[in-house]
Amino acid sequence: MKFKTAFESLSQKVRRLLLDSGAGHDYDHTLRVMKNCEKLLEEVPGADREIVIFAALLHDCARPEEHESKGKICHAVRGAELAGELLKNEGVPEEFAAAVVDAVRCHRYRDGILPQTPEGQVLFDADKLDSLGAVGLGRAFLFAGSCGARVHNTSEEALAGEAYSKEDTAYREYLVKLRHLPGTMLTLAGRRMGEERLKFMKLFFDRLDEEVF
Ligand SMILES: [Fe+2]
Ligand SMILES: [Fe+2]
Repeated sequence: MKFKTAFESLSQKVRRLLLDSGAGHDYDHTLRVMKNCEKLLEEVPGADREIVIFAALLHDCARPEEHESKGKICHAVRGAELAGELLKNEGVPEEFAAAVVDAVRCHRYRDGILPQTPEGQVLFDADKLDSLGAVGLGRAFLFAGSCGARVHNTSEEALAGEAYSKEDTAYREYLVKLRHLPGTMLTLAGRRMGEERLKFMKLFFDRLDEEVF
């Protein structure tokens, strides 16, 4: 890696920033997103590996600020600013920093801003992949647990239920959001991996239905 020292120094800083983040968005999530990026990069040769990996490392650095502001601050927008400051302190070339900052800013779909560069698209998909498959199930149950939700409910109960209620189960998250994610992905490889992970989730919820009802 060309910017090895900068990467190591930033890793320490991001790890510290995410120390108190919830289980779904902690430093482990950052590491998994980096791993997903590595997998996607094998199939998206047009994307620059270093830009992608630095962007993955920094993508959620402003999560704690979003949490503290109760959602008023968008972690992608603020994260892009913070990433810019952090990269400047490391003295990486301006053009490189700008490409990383752009990928961080666009990693979250909001106001119709979608990443236009292959690097941004890889990060976008890699982040979503972490909400799917076995990891996605783990994260969905952790979140449901933090809301005091039930282990499982019917699709009628889940869809009629409100966010942060007893009916805000992992299954509700799957029905409302997760099953639609592969269709929103921007690279062919991401979509394929997303569909494969989704298949596993479907199997899991079919089995859960069988055991519970
Ligand atoms: Fe994010
Ligand atoms: Fe993320």
